[in-house]
Amino acid sequence: MLSVLITVLVLHVLAAVFWAGSTFTLAWLGGERAEQLFGAQMGAAALAVITGFYLWGELHRGPFGMAEQILAVGVAAAFAAAGVQGALIGGARRKIIAGADPTALRRRMAAGERIATILLAITLIAMTAVRYI
Ligand code: HEM
Repeated sequence: MLSVLITVLVLHVLAAVFWAGSTFTLAWLGGERAEQLFGAQMGAAALAVITGFYLWGELHRGPFGMAEQILAVGVAAAFAAAGVQGALIGGARRKIIAGADPTALRRRMAAGERIATILLAITLIAMTAVRYI
């Protein structure tokens, strides 16, 4: 049904915009308050992945052609971004909750946001280009 597809696409783009946009901003701010946004970012990432696989099933079922290969690059970059954020920001967040000084962990979180920024830019390029392939 077209209305379901449009709703899922809108949810996908909203989740993606929040995840990528907040990552770009936190990288710009040097990881400032990254630990506070981590939970919301991972929630948005999960929503982007679930809705993304629904869209793939609806719009790209069948042969693994050029469009699907480009999408797969975007998906791989998104998973890598989530992994980097989980390891660097999630790890730092756990230490902060356990009582560590956030200032000492700021460089590590900034590095995580910068790496994730590059990866999510690759995802966005792949996702938006694929429609015209
Ligand atoms: C990780 C799992 C993901 C999967 C399986 C997935 C899959 C898809 C699919 C199948 C489409 C529709 C493409 C088409 O029109 O033919 C799409 C659109 C889109 N995706 Fe993803 N996606 C994922 C994650 C992401 C992430 C992390 C972002 C951004 C950070 C993103 C951003 C977008 C955008 C902006 C569109 C709309 C493109 C347009 O309509 O012009 N996606 N995605």
